[in-house]
Amino acid sequence: MATNGAANLPNPVGLLAELTHRCPLGCPYCSNPLALEGRADELDLDTWARVFREAATLGVLQVHLSGGEPGARRDLVEITKAANQAGLYTNLITSAVGINAERLAALAAAGLDHIQISVQDSEQSSADHIAGYQGAFRRKRELAAEVVRLGLLLTINMVVHRANIERIDRMVELALEFGASRIEIAHVQYYGWALKNRAALMPSREQVDGAIAALESLRRRYQERIVIDAVFPDYFARYPKPCVGGWGRRSLNVTPSGRVLPCHAAETIPGLEFWSVRDRSLAEIWEASPAFRAFRGTDWMREPCATCPRRERDFGGCRCQAFALTGDARATDPVCHLSPDHSMVERLAAIQEDRAYVYRR
Ligand code: SF4
Ligand code: FES
Repeated sequence: MATNGAANLPNPVGLLAELTHRCPLGCPYCSNPLALEGRADELDLDTWARVFREAATLGVLQVHLSGGEPGARRDLVEITKAANQAGLYTNLITSAVGINAERLAALAAAGLDHIQISVQDSEQSSADHIAGYQGAFRRKRELAAEVVRLGLLLTINMVVHRANIERIDRMVELALEFGASRIEIAHVQYYGWALKNRAALMPSREQVDGAIAALESLRRRYQERIVIDAVFPDYFARYPKPCVGGWGRRSLNVTPSGRVLPCHAAETIPGLEFWSVRDRSLAEIWEASPAFRAFRGTDWMREPCATCPRRERDFGGCRCQAFALTGDARATDPVCHLSPDHSMVERLAAIQEDRAYVYRR
């Protein structure tokens, strides 16, 4: 039976706090929007502290302090302390540029629980080239050493694409060398900046098959030493992923200026009305914001999703990808082999071009 999810509204468990869009790096697959929000529009410390308290009341357990580069905020330590005081588990997602040893120690003292460092590749020159920032790789290594020295939990995040997909094994070894307890290997998702760079980032099917095989053997080899989480590229899959665990079911994103989104790319879908924490409580937004209600549950679905037995498992896939590829956010994610638009994905996955990246600036 189709549902709109309103009767049994679930509690969100995670909050992505995009503290700023400012970032010294220029990754060509950045998940931030093409139109970045400026410093003058960023929420202040008191508003973030209120948002964290409201999130905890709503049932959120974990806050991801993200960006941009959250280290660009001068008040990052105070923001972290506010999240900790609200009772949230705090995870800092950083490029490592902008967080030195002294600042990290202050963050740990403020109650930071976990840190996630993005690493662009296992080799310095390639990593710095992908990040569009000379010296970024060295800073990541230095910060990782400090994280371990302070006894904080460390995750390494690697976004995979054509230029680095054949070095997954070396990345896992690097994460172990850095002292991480977990590595997250996530393939590029093609919207926003990555859509601009799709042909330059797209791996071949042989590369993807090789990565899947490598991953299985890495998991066996290192199962006692590191947790390996991996998300494979949808363009080569049969079924789509349940993007963000289902629209408006598990998490919310707050942009630097306070707009609350069901997923980080939701602003790419035209016509959605987003409410702001400047005007309303998080609880009111979660329950009644038109953007959250737009694709919550299954009532909005069309065929083939509407009567598909998988509709409560993958929720029709990714709304942002459906819009990016078909121009219709209600369409079945074309990644699904049952979608009438699936041939489009097969055609796009075959286009690989060695062209210069359009960096996020
Ligand atoms: Fe998922 Fe829709 Fe494909 Fe069924 S038809 S598997 S619900 S995307
Ligand atoms: Fe928006 Fe998938 S990124 S629903």
